[in-house]
Amino acid sequence: MKKHLQFPKGFYWGAASASYQVEGNIYNTDWAYEARTSKRVPEADSGPDHFNRYEEDFTIAKSLGHNAHRISIEWARIEPHKGEFNIEAVRHYERVIKSLHKKNIEPFITLWHFTLPQWLYEEGGMESKRFPEYFARYASFVADHLGDSCSHWSTINEPNVVASNGFIRGNWPPLKKGRPFLMIKVLNNLAKAHIAAYKVIKKKDLISEVSIVKDNIYISSNNNPVNIISAFFFRYFWNHFFLRKIINHIDSIGLNYYFHKKFGDTTVYKKSDMGWDMFPEGIYHALVELKQYNVPVFVSEAGIADELDVYRSDYIRGLVYWIHQAISDGVDVRGYLYWSLTDNFEWALGYTKRFGLIEINYETKERTVRDSAYTLKKIAETNTLEVLTNEAL
Ligand code: BGC
Repeated sequence: MKKHLQFPKGFYWGAASASYQVEGNIYNTDWAYEARTSKRVPEADSGPDHFNRYEEDFTIAKSLGHNAHRISIEWARIEPHKGEFNIEAVRHYERVIKSLHKKNIEPFITLWHFTLPQWLYEEGGMESKRFPEYFARYASFVADHLGDSCSHWSTINEPNVVASNGFIRGNWPPLKKGRPFLMIKVLNNLAKAHIAAYKVIKKKDLISEVSIVKDNIYISSNNNPVNIISAFFFRYFWNHFFLRKIINHIDSIGLNYYFHKKFGDTTVYKKSDMGWDMFPEGIYHALVELKQYNVPVFVSEAGIADELDVYRSDYIRGLVYWIHQAISDGVDVRGYLYWSLTDNFEWALGYTKRFGLIEINYETKERTVRDSAYTLKKIAETNTLEVLTNEAL
C-alpha cells in the first residue's frame, strides 16, 4: 500500500550552493590567502567554474523540477579593497539572479558564506570591533543594487561552524586552536553584525524577508544524568545561544541540518563519505526545536557526500519524509534546498568530497546529472512524497 505525503502549495524545492565553493578563481579571500601562504588549507582553483557556467547549471536545475535555488554573494568580489565597491561584480550577480527568475526559480541569497575579503582578514576579520560596521556597509551596498530582485535574504551562514572551526578546531581561517573565550567573543560580534545588517536592509523597505542560516544539531541523550546534563548544555550553547541574541531581528530561519548527537548512544549508523552518520530523522527534531522562535523556517541545506551515489536517493527521501512529519506537527516549513546542486570545494577537504546532485568533471567541467537527482525531481514536480506504508525512512 502506498501513501502520498502532500506538501503545502508553493513549497520551495531546490538546491543550495556558495560562491567560494562553486564559482572558481577567487583569490582575494582569507582562504585563498592562507592556501598561498601558510598552506594550511587547500587551494580553490577554477573548480566547477559556476561563475561562467551558471546558465548551464540553472538550466539543469530547472529540468530537475527545482523552483528555488540558494546562492551566496562573494564579499571579496563586491568589496575587493576596503570601502571600494566593484560595480561590475554586482552586475554579475544581477545577471545570475535574472537567470534564475527567467526560469521561475526563486532566489535565496546569503550575504556571507564563510570567506572574508583579504583586506578584512588582515584587519582582524571576525574578531575586529569594526566587523559589524563593515558587514552592514557591505549588506547595504548589495541591498541597494540587488534588493529589488530578491525577497529571501540571509545574512550569515552557520555562525557556530565558522567560529568553532576558526577558533576551536583551528582548521579554518584564522587557524586559531582551542580558544573558547575568543569563539564566544566572535559569536557576539557576529550577532552584532547580523543585527546591524538586518537593520540596514529592512530600513530600505525593499526586501520582504531577512533570515539567519543556522547550523542546528539534533542533540539528545540516554537516561544517564551526566548525559542529560551534557546534552542540555551542548544544546543550549550550539543551537540557541546565537539565535536568542538575534531573535528580534529575524523574519525566518534557514536550517542547515547535517548532524545528530545522542549522548550515551552506542548505535552504529551508516556513514557518508564524510564519515558522518546517516540519520535523516534528526531533521525532524531539529525543525520541531525551532518552533519556539515563531518564525517560518526553510531547510537551507541538508545533503550527503556520496561519490558513488548509492545512498543519496534514500537519504533525500528520508529527509523529505521527516520534513513532512515536522510540517504535520505544526512547524511552518517553507522549503527544502538540497546541499548541493553541483560537486564543489568542501573547505578543509578541498575538492575530494562529492555532495552534488550534479557530478562535476573538474578537468573538462562537464556536468553529469546523478540518478538520485531524479528522486528529488519526482518529489518536487508532484509536491508529494510517495511512500510505502511499511517503508522505514
Ligand atoms: C556549509 C557548506 C558545506 C556543507 C557540507 C555546511 O556546513 O554551509 O558550505 O559544504 O556544510 O560540509
